[in-house]
Amino acid sequence: PGPALFADRANSRGFDLTDAATLAAIEAARTPFLDTAPQAAPLIAGPLAATAPQPLHNPATGALIGHAALATKADAETALAAAAAWDAPAAERAEILTRAAGLYEDHFGEIFALLAREAGKTLPDAVAELREAVDFLRYYAAQGATLTAPARGTITCISPWNFPLAIFTGQIAAALAAGNAVLAKPAEQTPLIAHLATRLLHQAGVPRTALQLLPGPGASIGAALTADPRIHGTVFTGSTATAQAIRTAMAKATAPGTPLIAETGGLNAMIVDSTALPEQAVRDIVASAFQSAGQRCSALRCLYVQEDIAAPLLHMLAGAMDELVLGDPWHLATDIGPVIDTDALDKIRAHVAKARSDGRLIKELVPPATGTFAAPAILRIGGIEDMAEEIFGPILHVATFRATDLQKVVAAINASGYGLTFGIHSRIDGRVQEVTAALQVGNLYVNRNQIGAVVGSQPFGGEGMSGTGPKAGGPDYLPRFTAAPRIEVAA
Ligand code: NAD
Ligand code: ALA
Repeated sequence: PGPALFADRANSRGFDLTDAATLAAIEAARTPFLDTAPQAAPLIAGPLAATAPQPLHNPATGALIGHAALATKADAETALAAAAAWDAPAAERAEILTRAAGLYEDHFGEIFALLAREAGKTLPDAVAELREAVDFLRYYAAQGATLTAPARGTITCISPWNFPLAIFTGQIAAALAAGNAVLAKPAEQTPLIAHLATRLLHQAGVPRTALQLLPGPGASIGAALTADPRIHGTVFTGSTATAQAIRTAMAKATAPGTPLIAETGGLNAMIVDSTALPEQAVRDIVASAFQSAGQRCSALRCLYVQEDIAAPLLHMLAGAMDELVLGDPWHLATDIGPVIDTDALDKIRAHVAKARSDGRLIKELVPPATGTFAAPAILRIGGIEDMAEEIFGPILHVATFRATDLQKVVAAINASGYGLTFGIHSRIDGRVQEVTAALQVGNLYVNRNQIGAVVGSQPFGGEGMSGTGPKAGGPDYLPRFTAAPRIEVAA
């Protein structure tokens, strides 16, 4: 950094959802997209051999929302052969990515509608997601404007469904700002949003050989785009298991040293001690565990409450949960939308059913009868060591601890091997410092919720099994997309 453009960069202002006129403007802009049935298809620089269009359904209502033709292995081959690094000057690339940010903002109605209908996002979540996508574009554009290091070449970007616009865009924006060619493989569940975003990037001026979109299954298309000697790096966000599979495949197929930047899952904990302000802690626990139906990698999974205050705090927490409105995310009153699909729902339900039969279910809400709604629930556990894996939904696991055992709690959290987010509620400064210094996690939050990292001010990424780094939305990310400068030696 250093150039004026980077110093002057500001995050997007978003929308004030407490303002009636703003809400009316959003309603007017998104309503025309309530009943549309968009078509997505691969966007590649060559002839298409895609599948027949596959139907896509709204996870809240089951209604048909559009169709997506998926990339085939032949399309992956065409895209790999056509990929060409973006050789425009760095300042021109930055200008085009900045223009794309403006186009995203102009299309807010269509984007909010798709985020609700395809990904089950409530309006506040959709607003935050658009802001994050726009911030990524402007942040990497500003940082990349004066880059002199060469691009790596072709970068494969593999993204998840839970931030189908923000993470999809962030990966691509960084790779493009550095002048790479991008092969983008969005999640199977969210091709429509990826298609819209890619069209806006092309419309802004990104060449079609520099950005190609290949929606399709991870096991076939994702694998074809990562395990290939023609790629010079992969950026992946998704589950830890998939990251490990990609690492293994890349090790066999790509040149030694080809980087994999992976952001993965977590068993994120929060400690609430007896000095915490209960009203604030409860509000932040609810947001951290249940907002976005718990479908954030950053979400709180394991709450440790000091035993002296456990009974009243859990009583307040149960009361706050009773106030949550579950339903179609299109409705403004909805707090919690559906989980993404029936596979996700089945896994969450099986986990809660086991806890119920073990007598560990403390609290469960009643979900809507239709759609893929998981009931927000609280399960009792002895400690984080009882959690075998990340359960990606609105399920909070609660353990209690004695003040004298705090160091054991910290050791247990570290021993999980994950290290994405962590929260602490305490009014003892020394304790906060001691605990946060000992924890091996990427993002630490004190006396607030532990979701919603902000581009530029809270770079986001985990340690251990939660990610390789560098952190997204921070100054170290973009340089990983460049190669060492070539040194010409005269004969
Ligand atoms: P996933 O791993 O199932 O899928 C992620 C992407 O990988 C999808 O596009 C999928 O098609 C693709 N994929 C699957 N198998 C592949 C293979 N063999 N080769 C190449 N690509 C393959 O994850 P998900 O269910 O889509 O997303 C949820 C997970 O993502 C959670 O574990 C969550 O914690 C994690 N996540 C992490 C972050 C972060 O920043 N750390 C952010 C969001 C989500
Ligand atoms: N960056 C997202 C968050 O912090 C995942 O919640």
